[in-house]
Amino acid sequence: MANLQYEFGMVGLGVMGRNLMLNIADHDFSVIGLDLDPLKAAAVQAEAGEGKPARGTTSIEEFVQSIRKPRAIMMLVPAGNPVDAVIDSLLPLLEPGDILIDGGNSYFPDTERRVVELEAQGIHFFGMGVSGGEKGARFGPSMMPGGNREAYERLRPVFEAIAAKVDGEPCVAYLGSGSAGNYVKMVHNGIEYGIMQLIAEAYDLLKRGGGLNDDELQAVFEDWNQSELQSFLIEITAQILKKVDDETGQRLVSVISDRARSKGTGKWTSQNAMDLQVPIPTIDMAVLMRDISKYKEERVEASKLLPNKALQSDIKTEQQELVNQMRNAFYFAMISTYAQGLAQLTVASEAYNFGLQLQEVAKIWRGGCIIRAACLSDIRSAYEQNPQLPNLLLDPKVGSDLLDRLEDMRAVLKMAIDKGIAMPAFMVSLAYFDAYRTEVLPTNLIQAQRDYFGAHTYERVDREGIFHTEW
Ligand code: 6PG
Repeated sequence: MANLQYEFGMVGLGVMGRNLMLNIADHDFSVIGLDLDPLKAAAVQAEAGEGKPARGTTSIEEFVQSIRKPRAIMMLVPAGNPVDAVIDSLLPLLEPGDILIDGGNSYFPDTERRVVELEAQGIHFFGMGVSGGEKGARFGPSMMPGGNREAYERLRPVFEAIAAKVDGEPCVAYLGSGSAGNYVKMVHNGIEYGIMQLIAEAYDLLKRGGGLNDDELQAVFEDWNQSELQSFLIEITAQILKKVDDETGQRLVSVISDRARSKGTGKWTSQNAMDLQVPIPTIDMAVLMRDISKYKEERVEASKLLPNKALQSDIKTEQQELVNQMRNAFYFAMISTYAQGLAQLTVASEAYNFGLQLQEVAKIWRGGCIIRAACLSDIRSAYEQNPQLPNLLLDPKVGSDLLDRLEDMRAVLKMAIDKGIAMPAFMVSLAYFDAYRTEVLPTNLIQAQRDYFGAHTYERVDREGIFHTEW
């Protein structure tokens, strides 16, 4: 198929690029891949098999010339300088109207800069979050593209074909302009951090507080995955808890080091939320807990110096009751986390002119991605009914679902406090809810203090104006 004009080009045939390319070929779109490593270029072609319209090359000229105009070229290379390097090498060969798509986890200000620079040369640049890991890329990811709306039409047939499907609907949609796609993926990852931390805390309280053994814990997560908690992250947790380490015969998870790593997308979510003044405490806390986990030596020392005697106390809740309470508490905290992330998207869309539609975001998160979950159908409905919803907690159904679970949320946290087991992500998920629904916060006192020591002035509740008092 050397002379074919390929429908699509892929640069970077690592795990994600290769699998996306095979996915595209499976859907009978012709695709050519570029990788400087001849082994990778050859491997993808062999893997696609005879008769599939997929080919690999190491020649950038051949690659660009083989793609149908306007060209659609996706890059899956590490975020940062490699993206700029690939753009620089392609640019002299491209023509106005061609489209470049960055499918990596790029930092959204980088995307914003690239959109402006390339648009000036007539090239449409898309930042597109791709979620779902290796399997998702191969069999159906969730894809979050942002960029030029008209140019998206050139990409739509391929993307809709290869995306995950839920009830026949593809988990991809044009999200908005500029860096909207990378931004939405960044917040997706922030929510991912939050939910992963919540799962870890739930596991910890059930294990150390409730005394559930490995089999019981595994059964709980398996059971939860058949409930309103059904989600990819709960599902894989059940699988993970089953896995036995061949060497020790113990559960593999118990021999894995508790120092958590991260690539940075969660931190970016928190940093930008602070810039925009949007509270996302569960996500912040998830980032912090990965940081605390790194101080292993200090934690070991502190565990001896500051022993947790409360853990041995015989405060007991009947195990089944605790599991039920935890299920409701988890649902509460998970929804609180989605609410925070979506509120951040609302504010960011306004601040950066993305033009996001949150019902579309919820729709494409229902399948393919790491945070896919049954509850996203309700979340989608909430935004469909009211696209201007400032916060998910204000949706009547979501709100009443949370009120129904509030008592169990408190019960679980009381136990955590009594046992000295840290559940900070659960705690701030509740505090976010409690603070958000408080008509008068004690921040009036903060205003008074600011005025007292710095003459920073305050506003009154009973009349307009700016006031200062000689305290
Ligand atoms: C996805 C994942 C993916 C990646 C994370 C891991 O949606 O497929 O989010 O993007 O696995 O970036 O992030 P950390 O290394 O920061 O945990």
